[in-house]
Amino acid sequence: MSVVIETEGLSKIYEGALKGQDVHALTDLDLSINEGEIFGYLGPNGSGKTTTIKMLLGLIFPTAGNIKILGSEDISASEIRMQIGYLPEGAYYPDFLRGDEVLEFYGRLYGLRGAKLKQRVDQVLEEVGMTHARKRLLRGYSKGMRQRIGLAQALINDPQILILDEPTTGLDPIARKEIRDILARLRDRGKSLLISSHELLEVEMISDRVGILFEGKLQTLGTIKELLSDRDLNIEIAGADDTILERLAQKGLVTDDKVGDRVRLRVAEQVSSFDALAILKEENVTLLSVAPRRETLEDLFVRVVGDAQSKRSTN
Ligand SMILES: Nc1ncnc2c1ncn2[C@@H]1O[C@H](COP(=O)(O)OP(=O)(O)OP(=O)(O)O)[C@@H](O)[C@H]1O
Ligand SMILES: [Mg+2]
Repeated sequence: MSVVIETEGLSKIYEGALKGQDVHALTDLDLSINEGEIFGYLGPNGSGKTTTIKMLLGLIFPTAGNIKILGSEDISASEIRMQIGYLPEGAYYPDFLRGDEVLEFYGRLYGLRGAKLKQRVDQVLEEVGMTHARKRLLRGYSKGMRQRIGLAQALINDPQILILDEPTTGLDPIARKEIRDILARLRDRGKSLLISSHELLEVEMISDRVGILFEGKLQTLGTIKELLSDRDLNIEIAGADDTILERLAQKGLVTDDKVGDRVRLRVAEQVSSFDALAILKEENVTLLSVAPRRETLEDLFVRVVGDAQSKRSTN
């Protein structure tokens, strides 16, 4: 498996940006993106995602650290740039152009001309399902249609690497699913995708690996499989008072949620389901349901960011 993007100690300080104070937007990022994977780049607002992306694209310069793209440290070289497609955050294209005109414009920027350009525009329109609307002005496009044109724009030069900054923000569930399908198809064709997003459910569905940033520092990195434990158990009970709940917690059956008399317990990984049930039987509580609990990416995100926040406030 080859690495297509590699950063080492990548850092960015916006000097004097915040009332004369420096903003440490990214600190010491070591990251590798592999060929043929979808990498979900996550983090709360202002955590440094767009800053990272802009450095990868050579739009802003790192304060420290190195970037290698397709093995080259010269990321501004045209043969490297030709291999990267980019969908900016909240991409805007002129309203008075038609869909196909926008793509022709970008195709020309990549040196495409004549029949080759026409063929490529046709291909990407087809790829993103916009052939039917190609002759319409962007003014009349819905948000989802604009986003598809944005994606088509990123694909126009048939790049090996796609960097997409929030590709599904603001789209309805159907449009999101369609974009997701397009992205998965691109991955299956061997493209490498770096996607920043706040849509955690989306990211969980399509990413191979994710990284979570908080205040410019990478907190967690791994495959979805590694990071999301699926051994947990959810147990709903009734008829347990606080003393019982406390005893249960000590034995690894921790209260997760409590509504009136109903309590949802989360069973720690080291307690087997049989042991958990035996413990509950001893306490003589009413058992309402038992279900395996799969951690979601949202759970992980909230946990990781929460931990980082509390670590910061105790420092
Ligand atoms: N051009 C700039 N000048 C000064 N500070 C900046 C600049 N761009 C970003 N920042 C700051 O750097 C930090 C990281 O911002 P960045 O845009 O990279 O975050 P993000 O993770 O993309 O956030 P979002 O999810 O809101 O898009 C923030 O504190 C932001 O205010
Ligand atoms: Mg951003």
